[in-house]
Amino acid sequence: MGKSKQRYDMLSWAVRLEGRSLWSENANPGVSVYGESLRKFSGTEYRRWDPTRSKLAAAIMRTKRNKSLLLPVAGSTILYLGAGHGTSISHLHDHLCGADNDLNGRIVAVDLAPRCLRDLTHLASARPGLVAILGDARKHFGWGVLMPHQVNWLFQDVAQSGQVEIFIDACRRFLTVGGLGLLSLKAASERWTGEGEHVLFTKVEQQLIENGFDVEESIKLTGYEDNHVLFVARRVE
Ligand SMILES: C[S@@+](CC[C@H](N)C(=O)[O-])C[C@H]1O[C@@H](n2cnc3c(N)ncnc32)[C@H](O)[C@@H]1O
Repeated sequence: MGKSKQRYDMLSWAVRLEGRSLWSENANPGVSVYGESLRKFSGTEYRRWDPTRSKLAAAIMRTKRNKSLLLPVAGSTILYLGAGHGTSISHLHDHLCGADNDLNGRIVAVDLAPRCLRDLTHLASARPGLVAILGDARKHFGWGVLMPHQVNWLFQDVAQSGQVEIFIDACRRFLTVGGLGLLSLKAASERWTGEGEHVLFTKVEQQLIENGFDVEESIKLTGYEDNHVLFVARRVE
């Protein structure tokens, strides 16, 4: 009898690509965070990671490189600026921490909106390893003390003007040299002179390079999040 072809790929111990849908092993079984579907694969419960609700998931679907390169190392500490209501964070938590934080990971999630903090705090109460902080990504003095060590993976999705400068400053302080910074850039949030999005995205890439980053990939999220690019930038100096 011939072997049936495997239809899925494991991007990490917890993140599974099944055909064209992405799933993460649920660290809080039985609970759906934002209405996403739950499903068992070989007896283990997964949550569907919706790329129309998460720019990280959209980038994982769209990258032309190995998809697992976008994920942080499981069990490490990461910083996430612009946490929102915790949609992407919840899946990162599945991967980084696992149930009861068996992997000893830590996600520091910063957002300046109190309504987001309420949801994040609720999420954190069921997901050890997730630390929710009410703070401004532009003003590190308020919350930076909670980050005694630099991290190897930093994600920013603040969707406000000055996104690139905020990202560069945050990486200088919180990202190790050699670490990976992911910047989700929303074109509409930037002031620009009307030359078109392509020019804007090229300028941002140049700005990152001039500030000590190697831009490994610029991933257009079109189809999932129009007018957004996710820059994958390694800090090299
Ligand atoms: C597009 S939403 C983030 C969605 C989230 N990344 C996700 O995938 O689930 C942008 C968030 O950035 C937050 N934000 C905007 N400016 C900020 C700043 N200066 N510091 C921290 N958070 C900020 C907003 O409150 C909002 O929740």
